[in-house]
Amino acid sequence: MIEADALILHLNPLQEAVQPEGNTNFKGLLAKIEQVCRALPVPVIAKEVGNGIGAATARRLIEAGVWGIDVAGAGGTSWSEVERFRHTTDAGNRVAGAFAGWGIPTTEAIRQVRAALPHVPLIGSGGVRSGVDLAKAIALGADIGATAKPALGPASGAQATEAVITGLGAYIAELRVAMFCSGCANLQALRGLALERM
Ligand SMILES: Cc1cc2nc3c(=O)[nH]c(=O)nc-3n(C[C@H](O)[C@H](O)[C@H](O)COP(=O)(O)O)c2cc1C
Repeated sequence: MIEADALILHLNPLQEAVQPEGNTNFKGLLAKIEQVCRALPVPVIAKEVGNGIGAATARRLIEAGVWGIDVAGAGGTSWSEVERFRHTTDAGNRVAGAFAGWGIPTTEAIRQVRAALPHVPLIGSGGVRSGVDLAKAIALGADIGATAKPALGPASGAQATEAVITGLGAYIAELRVAMFCSGCANLQALRGLALERM
């Protein structure tokens, strides 16, 4: 209807579980995802929101018809921590706080999913804070990297467009230096570099 090129489904069980008004009805989700994948003429990507997708879950999602995975691993924005700050009771605050470090770290999630599914389109996100992190994500097996929170500050300011472009420009410059110092002439050379050496 809106002519989107793809649909990204985000899976955020922890956030829903510790959110005051959260919806924890995840029953039969995989079958529903399968239906969505069958019905849509565009690729479907499944992502987490900062707690990571591991090899076993990624495999089940791909078997259900999902085209690609964004691991969105632990190490960056934590939505259980966001929900912790939203709680007005000590009990709610305590439960959310217990999950501050929960999840599969982004580097581990990328490595796992790439090893299990060598040809699946893979996005590495969750705590990517520089072009060096981006280079590491790609070297571990991601096809592309993504970042969320670092864009929030620049995008909220007065000169939003310019500020976001400047921020992303720094990522590109850092990625180029990381590739130069790793002896990688292009992204293809960088891709899988760390995985090959494990
Ligand atoms: C303010 C904000 C809002 C976000 N909203 C969504 C959302 O609605 N759906 C989604 O899939 N990801 C959303 N994300 C991104 C993911 O949750 C992302 O995977 C997570 O923030 C980890 O990436 P980061 O460490 O680079 O922030 C949002 C991120 C931020 C910072």
